[in-house]
Amino acid sequence: MIDRATVDRILDATRIEEVIGDFVSLKRRGANYLGLCPFHQDKNPSLSVSSTKQIFKCFACGKAGTAVSFIMEHEKLSYPEALKYLAKKYGIEVVEKEQTPEEIAARLKGESLLIVNEYAQKYYQQLLWDPARTHLVGLSYFKERKFTDETIRKFGLGFAPAGGKSFAATAKEEGYKEEYLVDSGLVIRRDDGSLSDRFYDRVMFPIHSLSGRVIAFGGRILTSDKSKAKYINSPETEVYVKNRSLYGIYFAKTAIANKDCCLLVEGYTDVISMHQAGIENVVASSGTSLTVGQISLIKRFTDKIIVIYDGDAAGIKASIRGIDMILQQGMKVEVVLLPPEDDPDSFAKAHSREEIEEFIASNKCDFITFKTNLLLEEIDNNPIRKAQLINDIIESVSMIPDQIERNVYVGQVASRFDIKEDAVFQKIRQLRSRRNSQEQARNRVMQSGLSTPPPGDYEPLPAGFEENAASVSTESAPKPLTDAYLAVNEKEIVYYLLKFGEYPLHTDDSLLYGGKAKPAEVPTVAEYIRRSLEEDDLQFENPVYRKIYDEYFSRPHEEAEDCEVAQGKIIRFFSTHPDQDISATMMDVICDNYPITVKVYRDSLTPEEQMLGKNVPRAVIAYRIKVIDRLCAATVKEVDAAFKSGDGESCKEKMRLLAALNTVKNSLTKELNRL
Ligand code: CTP
Ligand code: MN
Repeated sequence: MIDRATVDRILDATRIEEVIGDFVSLKRRGANYLGLCPFHQDKNPSLSVSSTKQIFKCFACGKAGTAVSFIMEHEKLSYPEALKYLAKKYGIEVVEKEQTPEEIAARLKGESLLIVNEYAQKYYQQLLWDPARTHLVGLSYFKERKFTDETIRKFGLGFAPAGGKSFAATAKEEGYKEEYLVDSGLVIRRDDGSLSDRFYDRVMFPIHSLSGRVIAFGGRILTSDKSKAKYINSPETEVYVKNRSLYGIYFAKTAIANKDCCLLVEGYTDVISMHQAGIENVVASSGTSLTVGQISLIKRFTDKIIVIYDGDAAGIKASIRGIDMILQQGMKVEVVLLPPEDDPDSFAKAHSREEIEEFIASNKCDFITFKTNLLLEEIDNNPIRKAQLINDIIESVSMIPDQIERNVYVGQVASRFDIKEDAVFQKIRQLRSRRNSQEQARNRVMQSGLSTPPPGDYEPLPAGFEENAASVSTESAPKPLTDAYLAVNEKEIVYYLLKFGEYPLHTDDSLLYGGKAKPAEVPTVAEYIRRSLEEDDLQFENPVYRKIYDEYFSRPHEEAEDCEVAQGKIIRFFSTHPDQDISATMMDVICDNYPITVKVYRDSLTPEEQMLGKNVPRAVIAYRIKVIDRLCAATVKEVDAAFKSGDGESCKEKMRLLAALNTVKNSLTKELNRL
């Protein structure tokens, strides 16, 4: 954790126009800057950057946020990583917040392993290039495989020689602790206590985390000696959780997001050759079938996966089960089969980028069709096997969480096998309900704490992507029940609070607190809202809006500043709030330039600031009317009930209440109309 003071220092120094200006060429337009939006194919400049409010918004694609969220989105970084990026840009030293001894220990351990891995990467890389030694066998191996120098450097490839001085001895001499060397898996401690290297006489492929740190290695032998394992890999460690790592993700993430598609291949060399050919949205599962954690990693950038299979892959059938799981995660899966004898590595080397793209585009096939074709090849009209095959395909279809998408395939499967759609639907219902009850049973076990949680990840997944059995569920947990009836109105008031709370509210004095204010008194928008709501004892029902409201009035702040400056601080306070519900909602609210209820009234030619005197009271009154409306409806029911039960006294009392409510409502409606 970075402590709040450092966060503040970073944000103080940060100028959004400078941060975005590093990636986009910005032109000044009045108080704002305009540029081409980097988040979609922008032809005319639609990205507007406000230096006073320190926020950006694209009017074409709707992306909006602060300097921090821009960096998070553009560079695919987590929140702390984005802060560190800005700290580096502005030369601010980052002080990490105090942690518990356990946290410090875990962090130090993880950090130490990363440092050891980084050292090892440099060590192997330097040996690969070292001309003074005989180790050029490593380099010539890569050259033989047609990797360019640029590619070899980009992926940080290296060489671990046989014989000579070991990595273990060199690293110890350099002062690396034996404990960490062993724990990183790079060094093995023998029974007699002596140390030896895990990797020798192999070319080395460093494996990077999402943020580009070396977390592990794969080492390949240089020969085709079948008696030795082709690859040796680092074992799992605190920083290398295999089922949450994907080879190449660091180099591919931006391209995956931009292309909105991720190509999945099998091996290290496949990824590297594809990159070299100019296709960068590629990752490798490293020879195993994809796990839920790996899918989550991809899902941060796209929901479309194209699996590329070798032409003669014997492993296709084995990996098909794995694909059902990708479908279950709501990903759209397509498959491309390469020509016989080819793998992505050889194919990429033999073709240009355009040819590869063209091949993928014209040969990709949705997974269900692919699987059907594949399995049909081998049933040679045996009716029992045909029935099994149909069940198998329907099972795949049933994994797709989206009903509309699922139904497309139901039609397809039914016509392909000449069976009734109803029969397919029924089978799918059966499969899904069975899975759901299994799911629920498992969740109960999880919740009762009988099962151990998954090991901690060094690089935290964003909210909603935690990998545990519960989140594998296709049906999401019930949302907390809030009354959506008032949510639009609450949102609108929060909008004014966050965007203009510190601005003066110049309004017709008769509006102020029911005409009770001194004529000279000009309240701020926030004061007006607070006093109006307090008058009616109203509290927001939406829990996040309520939190924002409460925090707004209890946050620490200095008085009497320029209102624009003060508002800038508020926007910053909320958009960097540690409670992610608050910061996300804040961005959602403030970037919505047209709160729903007053949309019709708004005079688009007048700047919003000048309409506050009318629009804020309108928003507050509209909200109050809606609250009263609901009270009226409830009271009508109570009158009805009292009448039916023959309780005349209560009935009369309720009717008096109803009349009073209506009077208030009428006067509010009049006020609203007058505005
Ligand atoms: N793999 C592994 N251990 C092995 C064999 C394979 O970990 N003994 C993993 C590696 O991540 C490898 C991937 O499975 O990259 C795919 O295997 P393969 O196609 O055999 O290797 P390639 O990377 O394609 O290597 P090459 O092109 O040299 O055959
Ligand atoms: Mn291969």
